[in-house]
Amino acid sequence: MVFTKLFIGVDLGTSAVKLSLVDEKGAIRNEVSREYPLFFPQPGWSEQKPEDWWAGVCSGMRELLAGADASQVAGLGCGGQMHGLVVLDENDAVIRPAILWNDGRTQEEVDYLNNEIGRDRLSALTANIAFAGFTAPKILWMKKHEPENFARIRKIMLPKDYINYMLTGVHCCDYSDASGMLLLDVQHKRWSQEMLEICGVSEAQMPRLFESFEVVGTVRPDIAAGLGLPEGVRVVAGAGDNAAAAVGTGVVGEGGCNLSLGTSGTLFISSKSFGVDPNNALHAFAHADGGFHLMGCMLSAASCNKWLCDEILKTKDYAAEQADITDDRLGRNHVFFLPYLMGERSPINDVNARGTFIGLTMDSSRADLVQAVLEGVAFAIRDSFEVARSLGLDIPRSWICGGGAKSPLWRKIFANVLGIPLDMVKTEQGPGYGGAMLAMVGCGVYASVQEAADALVELASTTEPDPELTARYEEQYQKFRRIYPALKGVFPEIQ
Ligand code: XUL
Repeated sequence: MVFTKLFIGVDLGTSAVKLSLVDEKGAIRNEVSREYPLFFPQPGWSEQKPEDWWAGVCSGMRELLAGADASQVAGLGCGGQMHGLVVLDENDAVIRPAILWNDGRTQEEVDYLNNEIGRDRLSALTANIAFAGFTAPKILWMKKHEPENFARIRKIMLPKDYINYMLTGVHCCDYSDASGMLLLDVQHKRWSQEMLEICGVSEAQMPRLFESFEVVGTVRPDIAAGLGLPEGVRVVAGAGDNAAAAVGTGVVGEGGCNLSLGTSGTLFISSKSFGVDPNNALHAFAHADGGFHLMGCMLSAASCNKWLCDEILKTKDYAAEQADITDDRLGRNHVFFLPYLMGERSPINDVNARGTFIGLTMDSSRADLVQAVLEGVAFAIRDSFEVARSLGLDIPRSWICGGGAKSPLWRKIFANVLGIPLDMVKTEQGPGYGGAMLAMVGCGVYASVQEAADALVELASTTEPDPELTARYEEQYQKFRRIYPALKGVFPEIQ
């Protein structure tokens, strides 16, 4: 029998953790997922329990390995939801629920950082300014609102780093994910002492930094025995979910673009060299391949469609809701939707922005509303796309991934709103597949992330834009652009 090494990719998402078992040739052997709750203790707040993530990983792992020869597992890599503040005490126990990437409670701290410390200073120190979801403002929030919890912090980490810690006992973080803390000097890949001081924490409380494909340790023997893993499985540092998804679609090296349509929606542009958006509308982060990237992130993307279908229309059959949206209706909708259900990050940076249907008439149908949601998300990504273009970046085509990208209709809308072809990969496991690829690099199957991408990423299909439809969507987008500025002043008043 030929010995084939197996790798585990972990996608620690906001709605679920997805585990993929991948062989060294890149074939998916098995996949499982475990959902966990998301808590909204107050409007605009968003929390999860790290213990729930770990329980999901553990119970999913046993099912993932059932039927496989687990002794062949060589490595594991995680792609995780970014920015979430996880705090551990002196016994490495979780102090409070994690405050997530889409939590909007830190407006005061964001204003302090951006206005008192100043955007220019923040950008010089970290290549970014403060956004409500970033980690540093949450640390300041905890310091002010939960001083007793703050005083107990021995380690600060990000969501996937908690999983890596539970597996290996090592407090670690990779550069791509650390970039979103507003504590990393992204250009020089080291903690910014000045930012740590501003937040009242020390470097001893921070995890050790690694490249995403570097091995941080091996799975602890007691944990391995419980999970059914062999001894010595190597764990790489992994990456933020967007960087991991970009690895999974081969968007590494210079000038590639990936659109991810998950709970959040992101536009990710890879680069070999460090660069900053002079207006800081796009994030300037490290990439999982050792390089860098620019990224626009909208807080509610596929989650807008999930909200409309699950909570309002009370259906799980998303495809049936889209069946009435025929080609002749595209680009002709009178109903518009602002997708700001959790406020918005890129590019408007407004925690007070809210979801809005506008343009309703007596003949507006259920399908018009579903269509408006799909279109509103695409228009909001176009806003970040326009920022990238204004920086002189050329984006002739893009990859598209994430749960939302499975809808052919939504892909068509995106291709025409952006006016570019959109490519799908054969293995659409996104961050999980990217995590497994990083583990392959860490275990020496491939010499670099670029080499892994060249060997493993295959095109499945392309959605081409149609010139007539692109023109219709151009007109629609110009209308969409005027709605948020007209309502901006109203949002804080209606809360
Ligand atoms: C990126 C961001 C989101 C989360 C979602 O800046 O906040 O994409 O990583 O998982």
